[in-house]
Amino acid sequence: MPNRWRRLDYRGESLDRQSLQSPQGVYRQQARHVPVLLQEAIRYLGISPSSAVQGSTIVDATLGLGGHSEAIVRLLGPKGHLIAFDRDPAAMELASAKLEALRAELNDQMPRVTLHAADFGSIAEHVAPASVDGILADVGVSSMQLDTAERGFSFQADGPLDMRMDTRSGPTAEQVVNQAGEEELANLIYEFGEERRSRRIARAIVRARPLSTTAQLANVVAAAAQTMKHERIHPATRVFQALRIYVNRELEQIEALLQAAPGLLKPGGRLVVISFHSLEDRLVKDAMRAGASDGTWQVLTKKPVQGVEAEIEQNPRARSAKLRAAEREPVSSVEGLEVAGGMKRKQQKKFLNLKV
Ligand SMILES: C[S@@+](CC[C@H](N)C(=O)[O-])C[C@H]1O[C@@H](n2cnc3c(N)ncnc32)[C@H](O)[C@@H]1O
Repeated sequence: MPNRWRRLDYRGESLDRQSLQSPQGVYRQQARHVPVLLQEAIRYLGISPSSAVQGSTIVDATLGLGGHSEAIVRLLGPKGHLIAFDRDPAAMELASAKLEALRAELNDQMPRVTLHAADFGSIAEHVAPASVDGILADVGVSSMQLDTAERGFSFQADGPLDMRMDTRSGPTAEQVVNQAGEEELANLIYEFGEERRSRRIARAIVRARPLSTTAQLANVVAAAAQTMKHERIHPATRVFQALRIYVNRELEQIEALLQAAPGLLKPGGRLVVISFHSLEDRLVKDAMRAGASDGTWQVLTKKPVQGVEAEIEQNPRARSAKLRAAEREPVSSVEGLEVAGGMKRKQQKKFLNLKV
């Protein structure tokens, strides 16, 4: 791995180098990987040692480093089946190695495992209708992706402006930042970053182009956005969020999953979604509410479940995590289920016509 990326503090200044960018760093991080809301996710999925008898089939739509999947595999038993998705080839490789090690440990207690290096938005192409007992999605980026400077997700460490979860395809953040029109950039930052200073920031980005690194972008944004009183986050946080959501079509993907899930679950099957910001959580909440009123879902979480203080202390990523769960009602017509938030999808489609 190239050594040219410096680690930065949130103002973009150099900190001492950490080895997280090295493969050893990634493995070390994997060793201390703590899945978010693990107990709650397992409880709402409704899997327990007794589900081993029934041979449950569970989908982990976001395998990541395999933290949730490991716990699921341990509970499923030999008659069970884990089907896991991840669009990031690096995550897939690390998680496969973890699952192989688990196979060696569990031996004849290991359930069947099927891995798909694919978007969870395409889940209906890989999973048969009414065939699964539970679907878990722990959406967004993983700590491994955030902490690997070369992936370009974070301005905490300087790296190339990439931000693709699936490094095999799609435009990079660099292409979007350098090729989008000023108005499109401003709309994107406003829509997906909920950033009120979007126009000023977009103007500054266009003037400073070409930009190729996360530090360059963070510095341009910090200079353009007058920091507001009591603002606790770095001004570039929302811009990075917006670009990441856009580059990875994140909201579109969540909508596709929410739309497909009722058709894939058996009656009584559970959908559990962990999200990390309001745009994601709103889609989940609205889809579950709409499904509750048309007889598709029974919502199991009146309010989103959040991490307790102890978990947040151990795992800062848990601070903004929200878990929502719903159970597939026995009878209903899935067809025509309108997922709320369609407006955002249309807008995102419009943006996705950018020539990048
Ligand atoms: C928050 S991490 C999941 C962590 C995992 N639950 C664990 O315990 O290790 C999210 C993972 O989902 C993947 N991901 C995000 N959106 C995806 C999508 N639309 N399709 C497939 N994988 C996706 C990311 O590449 C990342 O590896």
